[in-house]
Amino acid sequence: MNGVETTIHDCHIIQLRTILRDEGKLTIIQNEKFDLKRVYYIYDVPEKAERGHHAHKTLHQLIVAISGSFHIKLDDGTRVWNVTLRDPKKGLLIRPGIWRELSDFSKGAICLVMASELYNEEDYIRNYYNFLEFKNV
Ligand code: TYD
Repeated sequence: MNGVETTIHDCHIIQLRTILRDEGKLTIIQNEKFDLKRVYYIYDVPEKAERGHHAHKTLHQLIVAISGSFHIKLDDGTRVWNVTLRDPKKGLLIRPGIWRELSDFSKGAICLVMASELYNEEDYIRNYYNFLEFKNV
């Protein structure tokens, strides 16, 4: 998938397979839509802090609020999609070439991120005007 041509319509909420029992819930993430190479999690985010403010050229990501809630703004250079994640049974699939901003973290929120590639700073676009240039808008 070419990050230059992707739009917010290529990003989706994915329902994750969940086993419900009286003893608790178990949710499974198993190479949903791409092969996972890296997992990281963001937590202890202060109330007013924002994260993200970048896009990736080739990286696919799946983001899950495994605890608490937070807001994600997705932007393809033309359109914006605002999503609040608060259900550990749902993942947000973000395709390459999408600008993202994370905010409004609730107390105790944990943002689990699964990525298709190992960490590579070269894959980041951290300046919004460079992002618009990348998207040819
Ligand atoms: P960044 O991806 O900018 O985090 P966020 O979008 O949540 O604000 O990463 C923050 C810092 O952590 C940055 O200096 C790069 C570093 N980092 C790694 O070294 N390895 C990783 O896998 C990730 C995700 C970040």
